[in-house]
Amino acid sequence: MIRFFTLVCGLALLSGCEFDSNSTFTNTDDAQSLRSLLDLPDHMPLPAIPDYNPLTQEKITLGRFLFYDTKLSANQTQSCASCHEQGSAFADGLTAPLGSSGHQLVRNSQGLGNVVYHSTLTMEQQWFFELEEQLNVPIRADNPIELGVTDAVLPDVLTRFQQDPDYQTMFNLAFPDTSRDKSNITMNKIIFALASFVRTMISASSPYDKYLLGDKSALTQQQIRGFQLFNGEKFECFHCHSGVNFSSSYRDANTALDALQFPFFNNGLYNVGGDGSYPDEDQGLYDLTLNPTHKGLFRPQSLRNIALTGPYMHDGSIASLRGVIEHYARGGSVTLTGKNAGDGRVSPLKSGLIQGFDATEEEIDAVIAFLESLTDDKFISNPRFSNPFTEQR
Ligand code: HEC
Ligand code: HEC
Repeated sequence: MIRFFTLVCGLALLSGCEFDSNSTFTNTDDAQSLRSLLDLPDHMPLPAIPDYNPLTQEKITLGRFLFYDTKLSANQTQSCASCHEQGSAFADGLTAPLGSSGHQLVRNSQGLGNVVYHSTLTMEQQWFFELEEQLNVPIRADNPIELGVTDAVLPDVLTRFQQDPDYQTMFNLAFPDTSRDKSNITMNKIIFALASFVRTMISASSPYDKYLLGDKSALTQQQIRGFQLFNGEKFECFHCHSGVNFSSSYRDANTALDALQFPFFNNGLYNVGGDGSYPDEDQGLYDLTLNPTHKGLFRPQSLRNIALTGPYMHDGSIASLRGVIEHYARGGSVTLTGKNAGDGRVSPLKSGLIQGFDATEEEIDAVIAFLESLTDDKFISNPRFSNPFTEQR
């Protein structure tokens, strides 16, 4: 169904393409107020928001402060923004970041534009459907440590917020149900507010979006050619990179939960030892399921703002977009030496959609130019998402 959607869009590109923006919301006022809270343009579908955490401006405002506040790390050195910078579309430009305690993470930071449309969160988790579940990882996890708010330090961290009168006010406004304890600032409330803020990070003002909305001059001829190649049977990109975010992990308010696909693929990045393995430190979905056929399975990342979120792949191992396309043209990547040596092109676990292809330099340039048309300058400068501590508080 998702593939069908992209094909329709691809074919309809020259006449302008509209995303289906009907929603299952029976109450159109609710749908309209959600659209205005999200500042959602008409061509973007209504996203799915869990009933247990309805979006409100007060939660969004609180979440924005929390996102940028180093009080949310155990040793007060990092905030979410340490690894998710607005100028990099909320990735960080590093191969992989350090956690707050200096521990080297193995995975590349993801951009956060349009996270609200992913059906599964993170690159390998099959069971994180909502931000309320996933955000426990950066905040609470102890292996690897990101913000490091383990059970032992949780009371101290909560006290920091409880002692701040501005936060007292913001928490009371965001969670007005005072029937239990007015001064109670909990980790759940922190996570609900952060999830609300992250959901508002909509990126829908790129030249590609303007083109979809009818501005025929928004894309160059080369970019239109690149989009056609991206959606064609030679490059095959669209099979795995489809929908609003160009990712197989997609959901909106209309998506029936039982229609969700298994969004993971092995794209032939490694073939350690010839049995399709990935480097020990990160084998994707396999690390959770221990099913040997799940080695190297990752969720295709969103391609929104992709020119700003490099380096690429789960481990940041490919430096440039040209390098990415060369990877696909080869039909996989070859690691010549070291403990991860192997030929990804002949991996027994690689997706059948990664066969390699002959592409001219002109075609590769066109696909790169198309990918660059997904850069949304409004998103990376939008004051709604910027650091509130640098403004008058
Ligand atoms: C130390 C660096 C670091 C910090 C701090 C951090 N993140 Fe991340 N974040 C990452 C990395 C690396 C990933 C990629 C992991 C993955 O997706 O598998 C990621 C992934 C995510 C995702 C998943 C996106 C998607 O499309 O699935 C979300 C959402 C997210 N982070 C939000 C946050 C929020 C909110 C905070 C603060 C509470 C935060 N992060 C703190 C490094 C960090
Ligand atoms: C078989 C499915 C599949 C096909 C076909 C495919 N991709 Fe991917 N793509 C993936 C997966 C899975 C990842 C994530 C792999 C990883 O992180 O190790 C990915 C990652 C990427 C990334 C890096 C994203 C990031 O943020 O690091 C880019 C860029 C990309 N693909 C572009 C393309 C282009 C362009 C094509 C067509 C030439 C293409 N892909 C074809 C599955 C696919």
